[in-house]
Amino acid sequence: MSKASYRNADQYLKKRHRPESIVSTYGYAPALSEGALVPPIFLSSTFIFSSAEEGERSFQVAYHLKKFKKRREPSLIYTRLNNPNLEILEDRLTLFEKGTERAAVFSSGMAAITTAILSLTRSGESVLYSAPVYGGTDYLFVHILPRLGIRTVPFPAGTSGTEVSKLLQKEEAAGHRPRMVFLETPANPTCTLTDIEEVSRAVHAFAKKVRRPVDVAVDNTFLGPMWQSPAELGADLVVYSATKFLGGHSDVVAGAVLGRREMIEDVVKVYRTILGTVLGPFEGYLLLRSLDTLKMRMTAQSINAGHVVDWLERHPKVAQVNFPGLVPAQDPQRRIFERQCRGPGSMVSFYLKGGKREAFRFLNALRLAKLAVSLGGTKTLAEHPATMTHSDLDPKERVALGIDDRMIRLSVGAEHYKDIIQDLEQALRTP
Ligand SMILES: Cc1ncc(COP(=O)(O)O)c(C=O)c1O
Repeated sequence: MSKASYRNADQYLKKRHRPESIVSTYGYAPALSEGALVPPIFLSSTFIFSSAEEGERSFQVAYHLKKFKKRREPSLIYTRLNNPNLEILEDRLTLFEKGTERAAVFSSGMAAITTAILSLTRSGESVLYSAPVYGGTDYLFVHILPRLGIRTVPFPAGTSGTEVSKLLQKEEAAGHRPRMVFLETPANPTCTLTDIEEVSRAVHAFAKKVRRPVDVAVDNTFLGPMWQSPAELGADLVVYSATKFLGGHSDVVAGAVLGRREMIEDVVKVYRTILGTVLGPFEGYLLLRSLDTLKMRMTAQSINAGHVVDWLERHPKVAQVNFPGLVPAQDPQRRIFERQCRGPGSMVSFYLKGGKREAFRFLNALRLAKLAVSLGGTKTLAEHPATMTHSDLDPKERVALGIDDRMIRLSVGAEHYKDIIQDLEQALRTP
């Protein structure tokens, strides 16, 4: 069976079945690998051309050196450009990420975010972003992009489309050139939601008015493709720390960017090739393994998180719990949740009564749950955003964003929920 006939068979299955039913075979032609059911790991850094002519053509396609009548796929050249494990992984990611055509995978979530932003923005342009964002992304926005002449403007997570539209117009009137609006929703670690559909509509209306592209990028790390589909809601790019739910086992650092074919193939991947931010084949293989269980892991973890949140809400030492959708019915956050999320996921943050002393005492007393940063894995992890993941933020701004000393961030894993609660209970009881 040729590669093309496998592609046809894949399309047949894709039309008829759900992503979780075909993910373990999609995008891979076993006949090209001795019939191996699971793709071998292609560690080769380079790939042999069948002729010099084919080599020339491959570079023409990969480097966009020549316009072809019919769009061609670059053949395998060199692992910084493309690699079988990464191509299979990218195809499989698009199965889950509704509304996207292509994916590019990276050596980390930060590599994905940085490459995507650098590929689309130029010096003299500006990026507006919802705040808070993950500490590393915040550092990129506050300290690195401005050094390259890219202005970055924060607005509070949850800001409406109308307000974002006003901000864009204000930027334009002041002589800046907005090029991108970056949303992290739910925000790490507050779980505040921003309305992707409303903001995308406002941004694209503005783009039409100024006759320049202005794109919306959404960091979907917290909810993953299971619970939220930003591209279906109008976002142009979806970015991930694949280290988190996509990987799911806390054993791989990776990132991904998904979107329309032209944007990924002609823009983002060109920058990935030159910046060298591509994922390694072995990490690609680990992620392929992870995707087979993505739905069951995320479903189990989300159910667990629901139980944990119910329990936390009733605990006398807990002042407040942040969890997507966990607000009174009349709260605008509830409306956003119901419109754009298929589930709440498994990321929770909560405020303990007291301060840093109480927070540290709790964290130090955990036994089953581990005191570690990162999230989305099958093991429950807890951390202190103010002194760990978000310690880089300006202290005053951090507190204003709700990230104070009392806050704990919890990534609920796949253990039995009663065991997780038992552990939290004993940690909260510790004097
Ligand atoms: C929401 C979010 N985006 C991006 C990143 C960065 O990802 P990575 O650590 O894979 O570079 C993180 C990391 O914690 C994150 O939580």
